[in-house]
Amino acid sequence: MFKRTLVTTALPYANGPVHIGHLAGVYVPADIYVRYLRLKGREVLFVGGSDEHGVPVTIRARKEGITTQQVVDRYHELIKSSFERFGISFDVYSRTTSAIHHKFASDFFRKLYDEGKFIEQTTEQFYDPETGHFLTDRNIRGECPHCHAAGAYGDQCEKCGSTLSPEELINPYNAETGNALVKKPTSHWYLPLDQYQQWLEKWILEDHKEWRPNVYGQCKSWLDGGLRPRAVTRDLDWGIPVPVEGAEGKVLYVWFDAPIGYISNTKELCDAQPERFGKWETWWKDDTTRLIHFIGKDNIVFHCIVFPAMLKAEGSYILPDNVPSNEFLNLEGDKISTSRNWAVWLNEYLDDFPGKQDVLRYVLTANAPETKDNDFTWADFQARNNNELVAIYGNFVNRALVLTNKYFGGKVPTSSDFTDYDRQTIDEFKNVKEQLESLLEEFRFRDALKEAMNLARIGNKYLADTEPWKLAKTDMDRTATILNLSLQIAANLSIAFEPFLPFSSEKLRKMLGMETVNWDALGSLNLLSAGAQLGEVSLLFEKMDDEPIQKQLDRLARIKKENEEAAKQAELANWKPQPVKTPVSIDDFDKMDIRVATVLNCQPVKKSERLLQFTLSDGFGERTILSGIAQSYPDPSVLIGKQVLYIANFPPRKMMGIESQGMILSAVDADGKLVVTTTFRTVHDGAAVG
Ligand code: 2FM
Ligand code: ZN
Repeated sequence: MFKRTLVTTALPYANGPVHIGHLAGVYVPADIYVRYLRLKGREVLFVGGSDEHGVPVTIRARKEGITTQQVVDRYHELIKSSFERFGISFDVYSRTTSAIHHKFASDFFRKLYDEGKFIEQTTEQFYDPETGHFLTDRNIRGECPHCHAAGAYGDQCEKCGSTLSPEELINPYNAETGNALVKKPTSHWYLPLDQYQQWLEKWILEDHKEWRPNVYGQCKSWLDGGLRPRAVTRDLDWGIPVPVEGAEGKVLYVWFDAPIGYISNTKELCDAQPERFGKWETWWKDDTTRLIHFIGKDNIVFHCIVFPAMLKAEGSYILPDNVPSNEFLNLEGDKISTSRNWAVWLNEYLDDFPGKQDVLRYVLTANAPETKDNDFTWADFQARNNNELVAIYGNFVNRALVLTNKYFGGKVPTSSDFTDYDRQTIDEFKNVKEQLESLLEEFRFRDALKEAMNLARIGNKYLADTEPWKLAKTDMDRTATILNLSLQIAANLSIAFEPFLPFSSEKLRKMLGMETVNWDALGSLNLLSAGAQLGEVSLLFEKMDDEPIQKQLDRLARIKKENEEAAKQAELANWKPQPVKTPVSIDDFDKMDIRVATVLNCQPVKKSERLLQFTLSDGFGERTILSGIAQSYPDPSVLIGKQVLYIANFPPRKMMGIESQGMILSAVDADGKLVVTTTFRTVHDGAAVG
């Protein structure tokens, strides 16, 4: 069967740093899996890289006023170094702007082109006549056909959430320039997915029933809907040029070249170090290699349907054996968003919490969105650190080590006869290896971590129940046995946690004087020899105070406020006057008696949030009018002495026990505020308007 495993992780767009959503969804689970396989002594290759083409990077460049190349250089370096610092143990992390990748993806396309695997189609696309560019869906905006919000995107309305196509937008315009768009014919190459429908149905729906229900279900619904040809080229000036004569100005669609990046990055590594990693073809073309793609749920269709169809069309590649995709992680109840800065960025976390990589790895795995969307909150982060890592795992290890130092000079004490309770505890470790392995092999990282934590809990309980610090006064033999067993448990923990919390496991091994980590020894309670010298003891995990947590919450509160303000500004910028109402006759208008009056007094109506009470001099005497504009005039005294326009012949109406004799005329501004109308210069009170 399989002899080696090739693990890939979705290539993140180099349009921003990576955040906890990326980590929880893709990189932490993949890293756990790869570390586990390595511990098992399996042959494995872990491939990652940055996705540097596509529209998101070009949008970022325009926003920041720098070139697209500068954007991808900046974020590729940032992402790569953050992953390294965080312990994501890639064998290769390269990029899709590399010369190797450009050539590889270009050749891949050309081969399919030469073999007639594409169809060419001409369609009408939106075009900006002023800039001479065709526009991608995301760069087209216009009025939403459903909720009529201004500024909806060509692929989605952010106001009402409907999925759109640019054709549906009312008055589409270029999001960058504001120019109105026209339709122009353009030709592109399409991968005829419909021709792969039957094959995909068998390959996924029959042969891969073991895929996660979320992945299988999404594939099924795509297949049930019927596949259609998909364009694999775009009219853009950023990307890999289409290697066909006469295709100037066209590039490969980002979703065509990005997954090929998995292959070209493998090639880059293998070509550079063939003695260590072998031939790239062994990883991609030998059916004894097991290919696993770790991705987020928005990538399922590309990895389960489009990319396999591309590989199948090419003909010489293996296909993914599994595609463990996670759902989404939210942040404090809201969807994580790069453009709205609603995220915990990995590079910032590493700076704000130095040495605490494993705390985040722990929290993101314990709360991984494996079967449904989950929420990351800073309160949960703090609680899991303090109540689980510190209070259970850290506390147990620390007590075992400190007591050994105190009573046995830091040397592993010699064990004598076990009690029933000892044996019961030892029994709990009998099947640990098998249990962890079966969970990890099934990509159930959350449950596997729970299992490992349970071992720490057993150790902690064992020490608390046996109380060796009391026994040390009377029974040194028994104390030695208890501490020996506790240290053996701690040694097991360092192995069990190794794939999940590699930094802490290494630290713990040093404290225990263990030189290597041997996965196969997991479950054995003879990992440390009696008399062996322990290393220096320090805390495995530290309690997290409120202060750093509050700092993060303050930051998020600030961002939320900034986003609300920006949304308000955008709404104002997009404001348009309401359409003019149906025509009325002069007679209709004449029926309205609009007059001028001076405000003698103006004050809020008690117990009403909305109403102001005006006392007017109307030329005949005094008149009282109530107007629902209190929210717009927090200090109504500013209106005293001003002249206002009002309708004089409305029938009187009682509100809050006060009779209102008419209606003050106000204009509604774009922000919804009401502004009282007045005359250009002072006129006599009672003057008619018409
Ligand atoms: O969704 C994304 O962030 C894409 N950049 C993922 C690409 S995965 C693979 F195809 F490279
Ligand atoms: Zn809408």
